Amino acid sequence: MKQAGRGSLAVFPGSFDPITNGHLDIIARGLSVFDDVTIAVLVNPGKQALFTVAERVEIIREAFRGEPRVKVDTFSGLLVDYAERAGAAVIVRGLRAISDFEYEFQMALMNRRLNPRIETVFMMPAESYSYLSSRLVKEVFQLGGRVRDLVPPIVERRLAEKYGATAPPASPRKRPRRGR
Ligand code: PNS
Repeated sequence: MKQAGRGSLAVFPGSFDPITNGHLDIIARGLSVFDDVTIAVLVNPGKQALFTVAERVEIIREAFRGEPRVKVDTFSGLLVDYAERAGAAVIVRGLRAISDFEYEFQMALMNRRLNPRIETVFMMPAESYSYLSSRLVKEVFQLGGRVRDLVPPIVERRLAEKYGATAPPASPRKRPRRGR
């Protein structure tokens, strides 16, 4: 395995539908260990998503504008094949809670079997993000809940555009109900 140090690259793969502050937290932690992090958005036509892959890439680029150590890319097929092609020896994944563990453990071991040269590194986000997921962000926003501080501002704007509404105001009391 290539050591973390000069020129080290980690891949941070996922669906990112949409990217959340929990993801940003993990990326920041990744940048404290690796020189560069490539956010790799899975192209999965079989999975229904709110944002298209192109939209997700655009959102992530905007969220990381001015951060040269973070790149954004897309991939399909096996993650380990993508990581190898990209020149990364490490896959970074976030572990929020015990409930993530089994799925992540299976994936990490399968990926190791598929390509023992690629190592999976798990990082824990701040506790305040331990309950945060893209799925919950979409649901909460759609139902009129407040997602500020849980997602980058660009995501809040794009959610508002998607759901045909303006972003909820700062005060939860004045918030209109939206969605179903
Ligand atoms: O954000 P997600 O949806 O939890 O990310 C899951 C992801 C993209 C990491 C996973 O589905 C993946 O790696 N897919 C690529 C296909 C692959 O390599 N499958 C074998 C993994 S053991």
